[in-house]
Amino acid sequence: MVFIKRISKKYMKDNIKNFVKLTKKFEGLHWYENNFLIELDGKWNYSFYAEINMKLVGFIICSKKNNYIHVHRFMVDKEFLNEGIGTKLLCNLCEKCISENIDSIQLKVDKKNIQAISFYNKYGFENIEIKDNLLLKSVEVKKLLKILKSKVKANDTCSTTT
Ligand SMILES: CC(C)(COP(=O)(O)OP(=O)(O)OC[C@H]1O[C@@H](n2cnc3c(N)ncnc32)[C@H](O)[C@@H]1OP(=O)(O)O)[C@@H](O)C(=O)NCCC(=O)NCCS
Repeated sequence: MVFIKRISKKYMKDNIKNFVKLTKKFEGLHWYENNFLIELDGKWNYSFYAEINMKLVGFIICSKKNNYIHVHRFMVDKEFLNEGIGTKLLCNLCEKCISENIDSIQLKVDKKNIQAISFYNKYGFENIEIKDNLLLKSVEVKKLLKILKSKVKANDTCSTTT
C-alpha cells in the first residue's frame, strides 16, 4: 500500500540520506543534501513523498511563485515506476493547489527525458518555452484535476494520510 504524505522539514532532515540515494538512481537528476534542505517559498506546504512499508519510494518537491507552483524535483524509485505512484503524488499536489487557489503548475524537463515528457503530456502539461535542452511546461490546475479524476480509480485515494 502506498501512502502519500506532506514533506515536513523534520521528515526531510531525518530522511535526507534516502532522498539523496533516490536521486542517484537517475542520471543527470542527482541532488545533494544542500539541494534538498534549501528554503523555498511554500516548500513545506506543497511538497509530498510516497512511502511503502515505511520506505521512501518517491517525492515531488515544489515551491510557490506568485500564483503558480514550480516543481523542482519529481521522481519515483526505479523499482516502482509505472505503478501509479507519480500520479498519486501529482494528485495530492493538485488537491492542495485547488484548496489554496493556485492557478497552475510549472516545471522544466530535459528534452531527452521521454518517459517524464510522456507522463506530463498525459496530464495536460503544455510546452510554454523551449530553451536549449529544456522544455518549460505548464498545466492549469483545473484542467489537471479533470484529467486526474478520469484516470485515478474511484476507490483509489488521492488524499494525504497526514
Ligand atoms: C515522471 C515519473 C515521476 C512518473 O512516475 P510513475 O510513478 O512512473 O508514474 P505513473 O505510474 O503514475 O504513470 C506512468 C505513466 O507515464 C507514462 N510513461 C511512463 N513511461 C513511459 C514510456 N517509457 N513511454 C511512454 N509513456 C510512459 C505512461 O503514460 C504511464 O501511464 P499509463 O499508466 O497510463 O501507461 C517517473 O517516470 C520518474 O521518476 N522518472 C525519473 C525521474 C524524472 O525524470 N523525473 C522528472 C524530471 S522533470
